[in-house]
Amino acid sequence: MSVSIKSAREIELMRAAGRILAKVHENLEKELKPGMSTWEVDKVGEEIIRSYGCIPSFKNYNGYPASVCVSVNEEVVHGIPTKKRLLHPGDIISLDCGVIYKGYHADAARTHGIGEISREAQLLIDRTRQSFFEGIKYALEGNHLHDISNAIAAYAESFGYGVVRDLVGHGIGTHLHEDPQIPNFRQRSRGPRLRPGMTLAIEPMINAGRYDVAWLEDNWTVVTEDDSLSAHYENTILITANGPEILTLTDAEIEAGLGAQ
Ligand code: MF3
Ligand code: CO
Repeated sequence: MSVSIKSAREIELMRAAGRILAKVHENLEKELKPGMSTWEVDKVGEEIIRSYGCIPSFKNYNGYPASVCVSVNEEVVHGIPTKKRLLHPGDIISLDCGVIYKGYHADAARTHGIGEISREAQLLIDRTRQSFFEGIKYALEGNHLHDISNAIAAYAESFGYGVVRDLVGHGIGTHLHEDPQIPNFRQRSRGPRLRPGMTLAIEPMINAGRYDVAWLEDNWTVVTEDDSLSAHYENTILITANGPEILTLTDAEIEAGLGAQ
């Protein structure tokens, strides 16, 4: 496994891609409302991506038919947008989205509530987000990749949640998926050493119940096997000599102090 180290020029392009993707998420979140179909969410998302002069990286990736993966409630990831699925108050919706800017990829996901959601659902969303931040405390030069995995798992499992094992994060750059794979569950090995210039998409997928997942007949949509709720939080990050730099944080997240460790 070889993990690419991005040049200064490539890092600037990754930063630009990340900033745009953060804007896409901010703008798309504002459009969410009860009664909207997941198909409309994708259409609006694709328009926003193209308005920034970017290409939606998921569209036609291995045959995936949309620009935004829209996964509702017990759907974990890779939900296919459809006119038949309408958003209801109380739903939680995971939006996973990628852009290509001047040949460079950024990838990020957020889970939002529609209208008022249960306390249980809000806690799952908040703790899934926090598991990412617990993980990247270890995203330091000289540490090893699986230090991040183990920290995510330890935090999420402390609440009794199931950490999805069948899907993982990944390196990212001129391709959406590069080496290394980044598991979110506990690892025995240390994994590759972290070096400045690595760009990584870290994406915990956390189930309120057990970690087991299943695929629907569309061969894309991943659901929890026990029908429990699932949340997803993903950012593209850069390893620097001074710690992790998160390339896809929204302004609201920065203002909330989420980037500052
Ligand atoms: N963020 C996901 C990933 O990193 C989504 C890509 S799947 C796609 O793998 F096929 F929809 F592109
Ligand atoms: Co990803």
